[in-house]
Amino acid sequence: MTAPLRPRRSALYMPGSNARALEKAKTLDVDCLLLDLEDAVAPDAKDLARKQISEAVTAGGYGEREVVIRINGLDGPWGEDDLKAAVAANPDAILVPKVNSPADLQRVAHMLSVHGASGDLKLWAMMETPEAMLNAAAIGACGKDPEVRLACFVMGTNDLAKETRAQLTPGRFAMMPWLMTCVAAARAGGIDILDGVYNAFQDEEGFAAECAEGAQMGMDGKTLIHPKQIAACHEAFSPSEAEVDWARKINDVFDLPENADKGAIQVDGKMVERLHAEMGKRVIAIADAIAARS
Ligand code: COA
Ligand code: MG
Repeated sequence: MTAPLRPRRSALYMPGSNARALEKAKTLDVDCLLLDLEDAVAPDAKDLARKQISEAVTAGGYGEREVVIRINGLDGPWGEDDLKAAVAANPDAILVPKVNSPADLQRVAHMLSVHGASGDLKLWAMMETPEAMLNAAAIGACGKDPEVRLACFVMGTNDLAKETRAQLTPGRFAMMPWLMTCVAAARAGGIDILDGVYNAFQDEEGFAAECAEGAQMGMDGKTLIHPKQIAACHEAFSPSEAEVDWARKINDVFDLPENADKGAIQVDGKMVERLHAEMGKRVIAIADAIAARS
């Protein structure tokens, strides 16, 4: 049996050094929390952030929210301590920054078993380097390897812009080939994928447009930097009532005895195949999972 669908419409980053944010997270209507030890935390605050995240995750109180700790890279001075602390705190997942190749994830996965990580602990991968864009298929394929326990890609569009010099403009035309390559790599590996952040968090119109774009691209959700982005993000990444009604309708029509041997039928003037009914089942399952949550 496959695991039940887990809505990952929204994933809010917060610096581990910000105790107020770690506390506030318990009250926010958000699907995932990305508790950051990496780029949102200054070098002088790394130890404090690690301690605060460890204590907060160990104490719990985050309810249904999926709790994810982003560690520093293992090649730097903090990564190994971060990993040990994260394993001990036992969140839902550890987010690995700047993954370049499957070997980077295999190395972390190996350390998880060395440190006795829970079997349920997952790995998420930041996709944010030029190397990762070129190796996306191989990295995504880690989703099929139970030992790596990869469950989700997170697009790191700010790092990608920095490393490639491609610009983040409305519509993101320069990024689009990489974003869509990563969507394909995630699907081929059977994992989820979350879109990058929108930095101008006061710009509601631009943000809503980028959420809609991500949903059209097939992203499962979007990473966020501020609580005020959550509502619009959920709006964009939740199936609408009309989509759910349509999904139920075409499934009902295919279930009729007279359609039992048909592969394609007409519903409301549109050609509908069994693959559309399958897609509809996923829409219904996501809508049910969201409803069960709220
Ligand atoms: N997570 C949780 N709570 C947050 C939050 C976040 N990412 N960002 C802001 N808040 C809270 C604040 O604590 C404040 O709460 P309060 O009024 O109850 O005390 C409230 O939301 C309003 O915050 P505001 O004053 O508008 O923002 P700010 O100027 O304090 O912070 C940022 C702005 C950008 C510094 C902050 O939103 C942030 O740190 N975002 C995440 C950055 C990050 O993690 N980046 C790494 C990945 S890209
Ligand atoms: Mg980054």
